[in-house]
Amino acid sequence: MCNLSGESSILAATKFSFMEYINQFIDTNKQRFIDELMAFLRIPSVSADSAYKHHVADAAAFVAQKLEAAGATDVEICNTAGHPIVYGQKLINPQLPTVVVYGHYDVQPPDPLDLWNSPPFEPVIKDEKIYARGACDDKGQVYMHIKAFELMMKNNALPCNIKFMIEGEEEVGSANLGDWIRANKERLKGDVILISDTSIISNDTPSIDVGLRGLSYLEVEVTGPNRDLHSGVYGGAVANPIQVLCEMISQLKDTKQHITVDGFYDDVLSVSDADRKAMALTPFDLNEYKADLGINEVRGETGYTTLERTGIRPTLELNGIWGGYTGEGSKTVLPSKAYAKISMRLVPNQNHETITKLFAQHFEKMAPSYVKVKVTPHHGGMPYLTETTSDAYIAAEKAMETTFGKKPIPTRGGGSIPIVALFEKELGLKSVLMGFGLDSDLIHSPNEHFGIFNFLKGIETIPHFFHNYTAIKTK
Ligand code: BES
Ligand code: MN
Ligand code: MN
Repeated sequence: MCNLSGESSILAATKFSFMEYINQFIDTNKQRFIDELMAFLRIPSVSADSAYKHHVADAAAFVAQKLEAAGATDVEICNTAGHPIVYGQKLINPQLPTVVVYGHYDVQPPDPLDLWNSPPFEPVIKDEKIYARGACDDKGQVYMHIKAFELMMKNNALPCNIKFMIEGEEEVGSANLGDWIRANKERLKGDVILISDTSIISNDTPSIDVGLRGLSYLEVEVTGPNRDLHSGVYGGAVANPIQVLCEMISQLKDTKQHITVDGFYDDVLSVSDADRKAMALTPFDLNEYKADLGINEVRGETGYTTLERTGIRPTLELNGIWGGYTGEGSKTVLPSKAYAKISMRLVPNQNHETITKLFAQHFEKMAPSYVKVKVTPHHGGMPYLTETTSDAYIAAEKAMETTFGKKPIPTRGGGSIPIVALFEKELGLKSVLMGFGLDSDLIHSPNEHFGIFNFLKGIETIPHFFHNYTAIKTK
């Protein structure tokens, strides 16, 4: 048994009083926690748009200041070729485990602005939810960690070492984080990475995401004639790149919604029948799903359920398509170029670089001779699976069981956090995805929000994770 230096009476006390202690602290401080989160949300830290660069820097400074105020040492705003990474730590004993907390303070662009019920960077509380861009993804969830840390520090209840690494480029592909972690391997030494940037099934059905899909994101350009033409003078005689692009796109999936890119499925690991049966037990109501989205039917790969289509199968989606005249009124034009942005979500064992190459080869090969095509890769990342038998998973499972009163269900969400696979490759550290959002929180969409219940539940659960994890590791 390691010597828990500064071991608190809380740690020695029964679990019940530990719980009481946490709940009481949250109860006394919750209004301040919410007010501080609202201040964080007022900073428009849109990483994708260079016009917001100084706001992104302001958000980094906010994180650094709050970490320091909560009791972190060695707080540093680490500049990169892009947006900064905020680092901070509290090391209490080298013999105790070290948990590295990762999150992101950057947010998605807020547009289309006219679909917001209140301005995206003027947070408001309505029906016990905080509405603002980044409320759930990921400022609200990052802030849970900072406040849980404050709670542990103020009550002398931090049971192990903690390191924070909060980045500002997650929403644009974490292009500079890889280099930074390679250059900071020593500083990032630890036992596990804890991330709250995913969702639970519902507020009375807790879950832990055990799978992240990989991502290959690229842009295609189709060029027809060397300039825009009069659509009457040339129309009917020259290939229209918008039409050709649409034809090519329509051939990327067959009637079973199977992706036709040569070799696309070669490396996909098939999921065992037993695992599929287990997945089928996840609570899910297809009618509610359709009603929520305003659709009459779902559409996806034949032979798979909706949860399987997003959880265990790869997909290809158009994210944007444009070309020609899209302004007010009309303009008779046969455009020279058409474009699309395409993302492919990948599952375990698929490699995003391989998939990007396969797509480019396929797209170039299928191009008819009357157009030229260009494929430009954007960002990518590898898929990730967590084990449900690891110490950290068990610590998270127990923590949620304590605070929700129900054992969380392992689920496989469809999103991506590309850097997670890199943490394992570069630092040898596994991650546990203990998120508190809901799929209905409208992340990346207008009217993003985060439930106050979820925010406070996160603050409540995180200290239990630290406590459980330390107990398991020092047994
Ligand atoms: N937090 C999300 C990822 C997520 C959301 C995972 C919900 C599971 C459930 C993250 O911020 C995100 O949006 N990632 C991007 C990838 C990135 C490279 C732009 C994504 O999934 O599109
Ligand atoms: Mn996120
Ligand atoms: Mn996101």
